[in-house]
Amino acid sequence: MDDLVVFVNGKKITVSKADPEVTLAHFLRDKCGLKGTKIGCNEGGCGACTVMVSHYDRKSAKPIHYAVNSCLLSLAWLHGKAVTTVEGVGNTATKLHPIQSKLANSHGTQCGFCSPGMVMSMYALLRNEPRPTQQQIENCLIGNYCRCTGYRPIIDGFYEFSSASPCALGQNCCKNQGNTADATNAADTTNAASNTVGELSPDYLQDYIFPPELKVK
Ligand code: FES
Ligand code: FES
Repeated sequence: MDDLVVFVNGKKITVSKADPEVTLAHFLRDKCGLKGTKIGCNEGGCGACTVMVSHYDRKSAKPIHYAVNSCLLSLAWLHGKAVTTVEGVGNTATKLHPIQSKLANSHGTQCGFCSPGMVMSMYALLRNEPRPTQQQIENCLIGNYCRCTGYRPIIDGFYEFSSASPCALGQNCCKNQGNTADATNAADTTNAASNTVGELSPDYLQDYIFPPELKVK
């Protein structure tokens, strides 16, 4: 069989006689038209090309998710796997994912070149650990370089997902307000303005569906 089957953002793609010299990054950008995945160094050093790859683990009978540098992966390695890019996470036209809105609201993006990679590293972490420690958040971003922000705004925005964060609403948490009703209104107003109403409800990570076809027994 010469056909390679890979799912990209839930869509099944079949590639005949896949060229082993084509990387996943170039495949996504040039063949799939998914330009959100950036290519910076093209040698595994900057993290701009980070996407999430998932495969079905027969032993545990559940999908395993990991962040990868797509510039280093041959397309041929992706047979039977699912790829999630930043386009599959959220967008301004429909709805930003909480990771994306947190990054924007904390001023963690300037030129934006590194942002898709940052988002995907964080997304893969939250898929495996919904309430990570601050250390886990720092560790997951260790391969993502940013030449603009100095990292502090990025880290601070993502810390709000951590187990150390008293409330995912951050400064809008009612504990930081004098009046509970006013605090609720303030939170609603802020979230509505950023198009992220209910962004951190408990189900904020339940939108991912692993392709049933890849659940090989
Ligand atoms: Fe820099 Fe892939 S483009 S790590
Ligand atoms: Fe410009 Fe990170 S925002 S490289």
